[in-house]
Amino acid sequence: MTSQTTLLTPRSPTSSAYAYFSLGMLLAASLDGVRSGQRVPADHWRTVKLLVTGGAGYIGGVVAAKLAEAGHAVTVLDDLSTGHADAVPAGTTFLPGSLRDDAKAALGNDTDAILHFAAHSLVGESVGNPAKYWSNNLGGTLALLDAMLQTGTRKIVFSSTAAVYGEPESVPITETAPTRPTSPYGASKLAVDTTLAEYARMHGLGAVSLRYFNVAGAYQAASGQWLGERHDTETHLIPTVLQRGMTGKAIQIFGTDYPTPDGTCVRDYIHVADLADAHLLALGACEAGRHRVYNLGNGTGFSNREVVDACRSVTGLDIPAEEAPRRAGDPAVLVASSALIRVELGWHAARDLRDMIDDAWRFTQARSAQ
Ligand code: UFG
Repeated sequence: MTSQTTLLTPRSPTSSAYAYFSLGMLLAASLDGVRSGQRVPADHWRTVKLLVTGGAGYIGGVVAAKLAEAGHAVTVLDDLSTGHADAVPAGTTFLPGSLRDDAKAALGNDTDAILHFAAHSLVGESVGNPAKYWSNNLGGTLALLDAMLQTGTRKIVFSSTAAVYGEPESVPITETAPTRPTSPYGASKLAVDTTLAEYARMHGLGAVSLRYFNVAGAYQAASGQWLGERHDTETHLIPTVLQRGMTGKAIQIFGTDYPTPDGTCVRDYIHVADLADAHLLALGACEAGRHRVYNLGNGTGFSNREVVDACRSVTGLDIPAEEAPRRAGDPAVLVASSALIRVELGWHAARDLRDMIDDAWRFTQARSAQ
């Protein structure tokens, strides 16, 4: 599937599309300046060329869509092991392939930056099959970094996770909290964070790791295409509750004896579109020789029971729930401090839990109507 990249004209100087557009153009201009060793005239702008790995998946797809809408030239590299070809956003160029075999060709010699999402991401699966996670998440990223060095690509934004922190000593969790992952998934992502710090120091790459908390919601691209969670086996709370709502089956609540106000786990949910906006800001914050790390959440925790109640309220459905044993590896409370990215990059979450469920529900309904 290949489609033409469209360069959008910003609607108004105050629109967010304009902010991203300008950011991207400036990025390219400054890169041109570095390459030529000359001062770049302010009007010497060109389209930024970006590679999005894992852009046929949930978060990578939404970020790729927003990048394309902001006027960047976006290539998606995805091996479709968990992604879907029809989820690659319109306005991007799709290359089916792997990090190990195809990253170098996908980068060519004129890619400005990479946004790296391609990874396995199920905590439970990683406990049962750690080798799959080390091989793909760390091994695949090392291959990508090799390709970066060979092609002269200098900037990377990495999809990291709150799972690097494990069971927190205190909440909200800041970036300086101890990193003690409780799963091979979290450990493999932490290993990549460490690798990026080293590559920034040794090779002068500019890198940003974004540590996501619980991502939810869906995004309707400018093309009308709905992009949302489409895992073959869904394990995440909100899409599972909504799927159960469609079929009338009960949602199982895993663990009701946690040391939390209502006994169920508490999580910090962030809308996928807010998360995507953070990636566009992170792109502009990649600085040669530096590795930055930012947490991304809303700073507010919701219990599993509260999430189920919110899903009932949004859908108007009486979704039945039943209590079930704890799920292995679930920390009781995970809530982010996103103060650092707010202060340093000016990011803020514009959407709340209701918006996330509302959009996820629209996506679920749009899919079921297909
Ligand atoms: N849950 C249920 N029933 C379900 C599904 C989930 O009770 O059918 C519960 C879980 O036990 C947990 C909460 O809902 O208490 C959230 O579970 P999710 O599977 O939606 O999300 P996780 O918190 O396990 O994991 C997510 C990402 C990870 C990331 C982590 C960091 O999937 O990649 O957030 O916060 F590492």
